[in-house]
Amino acid sequence: MRFEVDGEPVEAEPRPGQCLRTLLREADRTSVKKGCDAGDCGACSVLLDGDPVHSCLIPAVRAEGRRVTTAAGLAPGDDLHPVQQAIADGFGFQCGFCSPGMSVTASTLCASDLPDLDRRMKGNLCRCTGYRPIREAITAAVLGPVRETGPACESGPAPERVGHSTRPEAAARVVQGTEPFTFDLPPGHPASGALVLRVVTSPHAHARILSIDTAAALAVPGVVAVFTHRDVPDRRYSTGRHEHREDDPDDTRMLDDVVRHVGQRVAAVVAETAEAADAARALVRVRYELLDAVFDPEAARRPGAPLIHPDRTPADRVDDAGRNVVLRVESGDDVDDILAASAVVVGGTWRTSRVSHAQLETHGAVGWLDDDGRLVIRASTQVPFLARDEIARLFDLDREQVRVHTARVGGGFGGKQEIFAEDLVALAVLSTGRPVAYELSRADEFQRTSVRHPMRVRVDLGADAHGMLTALKLDVLSDTGAYGNHSRGVLFHSLAESTTIYRFPARRIEAEAVYTNNVPSGAFRGYGLGQVMLGVESAMDMLAERLGIDPFDLRRRNAIRPGDDPGHDDLVWGSYGFDQCLDLAQDALRRGNGVEAPAGWRVGEGVAAAMIATMAPFGHIAHSSATLRPDGTYLLRTGTTEFGNGTTTVLRQIAATDLAASFDRLELWTADTDAVAHDTGAFASAGITVAGKALHAACLALARRMRERAASLTGTDPDEAVLTETGVSTPRGTVGFAALTADGELSAHGGELGEQRSLAFNVHAVRVAVDPETGVVRILQSVHAADAGFVMNPAQCRGQIEGGVAQGIGSALYEEVMVDADTGRVTTPVLRLYRMPQPADIPETEVLFADTSDDLGPFGAKSMSESPYNPVAPAIGNAIARALGARPFVQPFSRDRVWELAVTRRKRD
Ligand code: FES
Repeated sequence: MRFEVDGEPVEAEPRPGQCLRTLLREADRTSVKKGCDAGDCGACSVLLDGDPVHSCLIPAVRAEGRRVTTAAGLAPGDDLHPVQQAIADGFGFQCGFCSPGMSVTASTLCASDLPDLDRRMKGNLCRCTGYRPIREAITAAVLGPVRETGPACESGPAPERVGHSTRPEAAARVVQGTEPFTFDLPPGHPASGALVLRVVTSPHAHARILSIDTAAALAVPGVVAVFTHRDVPDRRYSTGRHEHREDDPDDTRMLDDVVRHVGQRVAAVVAETAEAADAARALVRVRYELLDAVFDPEAARRPGAPLIHPDRTPADRVDDAGRNVVLRVESGDDVDDILAASAVVVGGTWRTSRVSHAQLETHGAVGWLDDDGRLVIRASTQVPFLARDEIARLFDLDREQVRVHTARVGGGFGGKQEIFAEDLVALAVLSTGRPVAYELSRADEFQRTSVRHPMRVRVDLGADAHGMLTALKLDVLSDTGAYGNHSRGVLFHSLAESTTIYRFPARRIEAEAVYTNNVPSGAFRGYGLGQVMLGVESAMDMLAERLGIDPFDLRRRNAIRPGDDPGHDDLVWGSYGFDQCLDLAQDALRRGNGVEAPAGWRVGEGVAAAMIATMAPFGHIAHSSATLRPDGTYLLRTGTTEFGNGTTTVLRQIAATDLAASFDRLELWTADTDAVAHDTGAFASAGITVAGKALHAACLALARRMRERAASLTGTDPDEAVLTETGVSTPRGTVGFAALTADGELSAHGGELGEQRSLAFNVHAVRVAVDPETGVVRILQSVHAADAGFVMNPAQCRGQIEGGVAQGIGSALYEEVMVDADTGRVTTPVLRLYRMPQPADIPETEVLFADTSDDLGPFGAKSMSESPYNPVAPAIGNAIARALGARPFVQPFSRDRVWELAVTRRKRD
């Protein structure tokens, strides 16, 4: 078959049933990404004779004689198409996995399409940005080259220094699709032509494996190996990774002889081709003894419930396996008397749903042995060092015998603070000695990675007649699913800042994280806080209503303030911006935005707040180094990962500022266990507050060394020396970089142990309209005020906040991984059923920054990647409650649930 790709003739022989996406990727057209293979996400979009199509839905044979254009070929040579230029300049991407496909589709739009832009782009999903910057970029590109796009724009290119909206260095490559992600291996890469790994999964929620027959699978031509529980180390671990591995329970085996949820992996097939692996896995015969299963966490802890990990003990960090309880938390004295004596008491029970991270790049890893026989794994992970350590432990290897690194990671949101692929890849590479690739499908993501912990949150809240809080009583039940990855950390964190954001004179907390036979829960943006804040902030709103107090004022009266105990020994008041956030959000809501509700709809306003520590507790370690080379370029090395959080841009800005250098003189190595000493990883919003701080220290130390060297060469005072683009300027002339490095490169190291944490605040306010006839909720105005400290890159920080808000809106109104109550089977294994938000679902959010500077963060910055998520759902719930006069308690506040609420309310009236 002959066709044309980006103007070049291509000859190919499609396999029966092959889609155009895989054909293009096999022809090294890696700007064509895979996000779902179901026509939902658009990451694989290409133009077919000029029309945008999802290449995963097009049979490859249909390309015969036709013209295919990918993102890499939208413009001649290295040029960018105007829409790509606008997306790159307008910060229209974070992880960038959607950007090539987004650019392809957007390149076909013209001015007459703009009124209908959201619908025209609905086939291209973005999980990171919240769509606003993409919408603006496309509009700018269609209307003409010069157009303001909000705070992202400065006049002219932003200076490459902290405090400016400096464009990500990778922007052009990202929008063209030439920036490599995990599976975008260049020709000649040591893992090119890797064996393909596929897994056999359990159809049962709870069963013991009696036997596995792999003979027929092994007989399939091209099959190299089939692994079962008999072939893996008899060593338990957790897929969830933390600095201290003891934070998670050791309850997981790589392949187990007991399955605890539908979709759990049972065997791994390794073959020369995907077709052979797929054919073979269908031939693996497994005999199961079915065991009783339990899907309701309340039932799971009752006497007589099926036990899911009966052999685990507190030594494995499972508190009470006899009740399926991974963690029980109890604190504070009984507050019933205080509540009874309070002027007002409100209460309720809120339930949150399973939410999928839905990052567009699915989990996966590719591994091989290097020339020294070391195991090398290129993984889509937020924690390469922690993955390396656990892989070494599982296979009894020295850490030095394993290297884990990442390419650009296509989104994570906490979901890649796990090892879901690296372990099987390691097993297969070590066993076969050959390169092996394992890429999860979108259905795998829903059925067998992790979801946000669904929680039942009971809140009772008391206050005096003036609205001063008297007591909080909290009872939380968290469903960790079949395994306890992150269950302990999430539960602890969910109960932390949510119960200290206000001055509660008395508190009683009871909480448990419980095993069930559901799909496992794990780390997700906000790390449990959002679920408990839904209950606490909704109860605050109920209190405000009952007392007739403005909800902003009620929060002001009770807000925690510097000097108050924030609840943890390592928390310090590096800055405080809660009061400003409340003022900013309230003022914006009062100003309004002119968007009116449709006739007959009910309108309500809602607000909610959240507090978060600026990194994870108990240490979060980063090492960095900075090296000056004779040609005046710097090599910067850090262990943290870029997965859309913008860290690599901010790290460059820090180095550029400290070393007075332009970006083109900076080479940044990240996320490679061979590159630098230990780094805990990119989670808990630690990119700036830990890795950034470590690099800042390294750069300052290097700058000092350079000044000292220049001063000693010129006989001047180092304090009078100044770094410039050409060398170090002293009162006796400039010493060039070559002279500075005449005795060898100059290097300096920086480290950060994350021993102290500061606090950040977020306030979200909305005005919503609710159609009582249909239950549709429309957000008319959305405002978010953030206490981010010194804002290192305003456009990027705005983007992080918008992305967090968009995910908050998604889980507030739409998203739910549904599970069959009888079988535990996920019934929403594709994005369209799961209901991931499309462009039209996410309104623009006005983002406002408090004017604060933090004593702990580099340059006064605080973390701001995950916290914006937390107050969004309660703000929307409060607004719906005010609109309808009836409060939603079950998240998502979906159309059917809101409609039911409206009907019940009407009947009551
Ligand atoms: Fe769109 Fe990450 S930038 S999915």
